[in-house]
Amino acid sequence: MRVLWFNCDCHSFPGVAIAVATLGIFWACLISIYDLATVHDAHTIHSMASGREPNLERFQKEGHSAFVVGYTGETGKALVTELNETKAFKRVVLIGRRQTNITEKLGEGFEEKVVDFDQLENYKDAFEGCDVGFNTLGTTRGKSGPEGFVKVDHDYVLKSAEIAKTSGCKHFIHTSSQGSDKNSSFLYPRTKGQVEESLKMMIFERLSIFRPGILLCDRQENRAGEAFFRTILKPIFYFFPTAISTPTEVVARAMLNNAISISSGNKTELFENKAIHMLAGSLKPKTSEMVKPDKKLPQDKTESEENLEL
Ligand SMILES: NC(=O)c1ccc[n+]([C@@H]2O[C@H](COP(=O)([O-])OP(=O)(O)OC[C@H]3O[C@@H](n4cnc5c(N)ncnc54)[C@H](OP(=O)(O)O)[C@@H]3O)[C@@H](O)[C@H]2O)c1
Ligand SMILES: *[C@@H]1O[C@H](CO)[C@@H](O)[C@H](O)[C@H]1NC(C)=O
Ligand SMILES: *[C@@H]1O[C@H](CO)[C@@H](O)[C@H](O)[C@H]1NC(C)=O
Ligand SMILES: *[C@@H]1O[C@H](CO)[C@@H](O)[C@H](O)[C@H]1NC(C)=O
Ligand SMILES: *[C@@H]1O[C@H](CO)[C@@H](O)[C@H](O)[C@H]1NC(C)=O
Repeated sequence: MRVLWFNCDCHSFPGVAIAVATLGIFWACLISIYDLATVHDAHTIHSMASGREPNLERFQKEGHSAFVVGYTGETGKALVTELNETKAFKRVVLIGRRQTNITEKLGEGFEEKVVDFDQLENYKDAFEGCDVGFNTLGTTRGKSGPEGFVKVDHDYVLKSAEIAKTSGCKHFIHTSSQGSDKNSSFLYPRTKGQVEESLKMMIFERLSIFRPGILLCDRQENRAGEAFFRTILKPIFYFFPTAISTPTEVVARAMLNNAISISSGNKTELFENKAIHMLAGSLKPKTSEMVKPDKKLPQDKTESEENLEL
């Protein structure tokens, strides 16, 4: 029997044929769902990416300050590198549970503050004066157990956001996840979704939610289960780089581009995996995605504009 381009003795290895076929179908589904997805509001997102240079110049002159929680993580490290290279903020407070002395290797304006996340209300001064806040905090169920996961990804994140808000944070930039859904019956997407909802209810002047797919980086620690999936999915990461994965540097670049941009007017800006690539400037919008340059409410639309949308 032939399986794809292999001649395979499938009487002795029926499992191989089934596995190959299942994998093929699985890939095809994933790719068609995610890679063909259109990016909503591509015009706004693209202009945030293409405006990086002038935005950076303006933003630097305005003299903003930021804090980063989760700066020792993979996404956090990439973000710190981006902040160090662009010098977008006059002051950056790195807030974490342990001292790393990373500021010795960074330019001016970086400070490291060690806090106890279980008693964060005693560390309010760490957040003081930061008008922008980045959150890249997170753990996994495998690493911390279900309660530990909720404690970090839900409680610590919301507590940080709450204290940040009362300390003057105007723009909160949060790392969520692809598939995040407050109604999910699975713990991970449900927790991520609930946090998004709670953040929306805090009513920051501006809230940006990033929903990356699988994060690509040279991770120090070993996560056995994850490593297996990453190996299987490698061809997709390679051939469809914006479909279900994002390198941490791309997330960091997108976050920075968003932070320095002028608000699009949306109280909440939501960036799915593909939009993150576009926001970082590594994916150009399709012509069909650029059709709607102006954001008018439906009742403001003329008939010809409505036709254009169809
Ligand atoms: N990994 C993925 O493929 C993926 C995909 C989609 C979304 N995300 C989400 O993206 C975010 C960033 O992910 P990542 O992979 O960059 O994270 P990461 O490398 O695991 O880093 C996690 C950060 O959270 C901190 N942290 C963890 N447990 C803590 C605790 N108990 N108390 C205080 N701080 C704690 C870590 O500090 P220490 O260094 O001190 O441990 C570190 O700074 C997370 O919210 C994650 O859920 C991840
Ligand atoms: C950070 O610096 C302090 C003071 O020099 C030192 O005591 C501590 O061990 C350093 N920590 C790390 C993680 O390098
Ligand atoms: C931060 O930027 C400075 C230059 O401004 C550079 O010398 C240093 O190596 C950078 N640090 C890191 C960790 O990238
Ligand atoms: C979640 O459930 C609520 C009702 O419990 C419903 O109003 C809402 O539309 C659901 N959201 C999603 C994203 O399915
Ligand atoms: C801004 O809001 C509009 C209307 O709700 C939405 O269609 C669009 O996708 C939003 N843009 C971003 C970047 O979230």
